[in-house]
Amino acid sequence: MKKNILITGGAGFIGSHVVRLFVNKYPGYKIINLDALTYAGNLENLKDVEQASNYFFEHANILEPDVLMNVFEQHDITDVIHLAAESHVDRSILSPMDFIYTNIIGTVNLLTVAKNYWKENLDAHRFHHVSTDEVYGTLGDTGFFTEETGYAPNSPYSASKASSDHFVRAYGETFHIPYIITNCSNNYGPNHFPEKLIPLFINNIMHKKPLPVYGKGENTRDWLYVIDHARAIDLVFHEGKTGQHYNVGGFNEWKNIDLVQLLCKLMDEKLKRQPGESSKLITYVKDRPGHDLRYAIDATKINKELGWKPSVTFEEGLSITIDWYLKNEEWLKHVTSGEYQNYYTEQYSNR
Ligand code: NAD
Ligand code: TYD
Repeated sequence: MKKNILITGGAGFIGSHVVRLFVNKYPGYKIINLDALTYAGNLENLKDVEQASNYFFEHANILEPDVLMNVFEQHDITDVIHLAAESHVDRSILSPMDFIYTNIIGTVNLLTVAKNYWKENLDAHRFHHVSTDEVYGTLGDTGFFTEETGYAPNSPYSASKASSDHFVRAYGETFHIPYIITNCSNNYGPNHFPEKLIPLFINNIMHKKPLPVYGKGENTRDWLYVIDHARAIDLVFHEGKTGQHYNVGGFNEWKNIDLVQLLCKLMDEKLKRQPGESSKLITYVKDRPGHDLRYAIDATKINKELGWKPSVTFEEGLSITIDWYLKNEEWLKHVTSGEYQNYYTEQYSNR
């Protein structure tokens, strides 16, 4: 069936990989990337697909429902894959309201416009909401998040994503919007904005700057290569059951400090530095308030029902990622000029 898919946040980290996958894999679909181009959105991420005849870009904000309705009408949108969000926990601690506007109100705007545009013929459509495992809160030393785990968000970011998930469900129950939600663990890979752990530390190692590890570095995250997340979104979007959640994770837990040591070792090898040189940059700093101890996804459902599993090992994925940053210094320079410097000073100068 011919689809005109609205992908929101397509100029961001994960969104750009989803747009690329869909544009290349489905030449018969129209892919409409709607993005406000905040500090995190960057059309350089999509240079290789911008000339494709099935790709369209709309510079728009999900906080403007009239503009959204125009985009639906102009492109006759049949489906939505919603990734646009404020996505960084530390920024949500510095300014929570931005997260409430974009992640909650923006999502409700999009749901409302989809409901009004699709009208009675709702079953022919799909609203795929891309969410996070952080809505489940934190784990102790054992156990996993399943689709049945109760929501218990601890940061303004995760609270805003949890709220958006609830609104998606509510629009499904109340207005019959055919929704599906994926809750994914921490992603890493090319085009990741250097405010998150892995790209920030790669950039700092490249420039021999301190590596600010929060607390004792004992917090644990479950890392997934971004292209494997994009593959999961493709599969769930096409084959998942309406009204269901699917957890997506890497089966790949790392304590922050062990991950940072591995990064330092790989970077020393690639930059031909003395073994141990980069790990001297590790600096323990004041912990993040409300810092979740451990995330770990049980991805059995998506594996059993849809046959998805990660295709890249962590060592392979990290190696490709580091190589990408070493080859794309211009990209790094562009995204770390201007506003980034103000954020960096505010976030790290008093820790
Ligand atoms: P990102 O911050 O890299 O990109 C977000 C994109 O959304 C940017 O292009 C930005 O310009 C756009 N955007 C922000 N506000 C907007 C608005 N009001 N209107 C239109 N566009 C707007 O984020 P990401 O890491 O690619 O995450 C994408 C989605 O995946 C988010 O919903 C996030 O919650 C979710 N997610 C992320 C991770 C992760 O590890 N990064 C893991 C699980 C889920
Ligand atoms: P991050 O990449 O911000 O993702 P999230 O908070 O969504 O999991 O952080 C990953 C882990 O790394 C988290 O436990 C916080 C920690 N961290 C640091 O120790 N130092 C840093 O400078 C950053 C950005 C994160």
